[in-house]
Amino acid sequence: APVCWIPEPAVGPWPPGPGYWAVFRHADVEHVLRTPETFSSHMGATQIRDPDAPEDLAFVRSMMLNQDPPGHTRLRRIVAAAFTPRAVRALEAAVTERARTLIATAADQGEVDFVEVAADLPVWTLAQIMGVPAEDRRLLYDWASRVIGFQDPDHAGLSTADRTPLTPLGRAALTHRPRSLTGPDGRPMNPRSRAALADMFAYAHALADVKRRAPGEDIMSRMLAGGLTRPEFENMFFLFAVAGNETLRNAIPGALLTLLDHPAEFRRLRENPSHLPTAIEEMLRYWPPVMNFRRTATRETVLRGVRIRAGDKVVVYHASANRDETVFPDPDRFDITRTPNDHVSFGFGPHYCLGAHLARTQMRALFTELLQLDVERTGTPVRLASNFQNGLKHLPVRLTRPR
Ligand code: HEM
Repeated sequence: APVCWIPEPAVGPWPPGPGYWAVFRHADVEHVLRTPETFSSHMGATQIRDPDAPEDLAFVRSMMLNQDPPGHTRLRRIVAAAFTPRAVRALEAAVTERARTLIATAADQGEVDFVEVAADLPVWTLAQIMGVPAEDRRLLYDWASRVIGFQDPDHAGLSTADRTPLTPLGRAALTHRPRSLTGPDGRPMNPRSRAALADMFAYAHALADVKRRAPGEDIMSRMLAGGLTRPEFENMFFLFAVAGNETLRNAIPGALLTLLDHPAEFRRLRENPSHLPTAIEEMLRYWPPVMNFRRTATRETVLRGVRIRAGDKVVVYHASANRDETVFPDPDRFDITRTPNDHVSFGFGPHYCLGAHLARTQMRALFTELLQLDVERTGTPVRLASNFQNGLKHLPVRLTRPR
């Protein structure tokens, strides 16, 4: 059943949702994602449950991710300049240096939780490109974890040994002024997540005051120059804090676990590091950090012979499209030289991941360092409880420098 109706169960005190169409085939996933006039993001691209209150829906819709062209195009243009190949290249040397330090420190420690090791690079890089002081990156990480990891109470903030003091701006933002909102699952947001959003927005506004006095090339400065409304500004900050952080934080340990599960391919890659670019694409195909996104039908349409009515929810499964045997020969085989590799882990169409190039740059930097070490599993990996993110909470490994 390539397009299949899934009933939504009642959860806790909440009644069942109306249900949704699940779309599994690669061609259909791409079709849905490139046809926003029929499959719209306006009811939210990440949450399957609809927001309860009209003000929550208005808040959801002010985020670029949840808009369709032409509104989406306007917002995307404002921030896209921070992601040109030239802009990413300018960051590459610093990202490489940071990756080298992180892996060298981990190798000195020997036994580490690789999830913690990997966590720092995405949020450090995100801070650079956003124009957030590096000392405050722990805050970004913690806020994103609390809002997005809502299905797993143990989804922790950055607990590395990093005790760098926050900037005065960071300290001042921790004031907890929660406002009532529905969470990414459409249910009232838990107090932990609400407080995280309140702190995040207080921080974003305080940082904006600094940036107005001294603008740069970073995303924050571009947002301020771009004339965003207050909710658009807050939601753009929120989007980057999550999108640039929660994804890679799962992609990198997931990629290492995939290599550890396929020792022959891991060995082949270590012996032929020039395969790294195709290996990274295969890691992303095999372990898509985000498993699905949602759209809502704006009109009646037919997909694979199934009649979809206006207003129906449509959920595309990237995790399934990436294993479509009509596109990927022997799809369950992990092959570091697989070419072509048209995986959809970065999405497709107008919302195609803005940070894809930056994400690849970070993975390349980190795995270039890692391939020079012996990596051995020392415990059982622990998965994140989530229907949305393909995440790991713990990946205990021993890293040793070969003699
Ligand atoms: C959008 C995946 C890393 C920023 C998306 C979408 C996917 C995705 C699937 C499309 C959402 C949709 O169709 O509604 C990933 C994966 C990553 C990653 C798998 C890492 C391996 C990043 C990074 C950044 C970023 C590092 C920024 C620093 C964004 C933004 C959007 C987006 C801003 C929204 C684009 C729009 O609405 O036009 N990402 N992402 N992502 N991503 Fe990523």
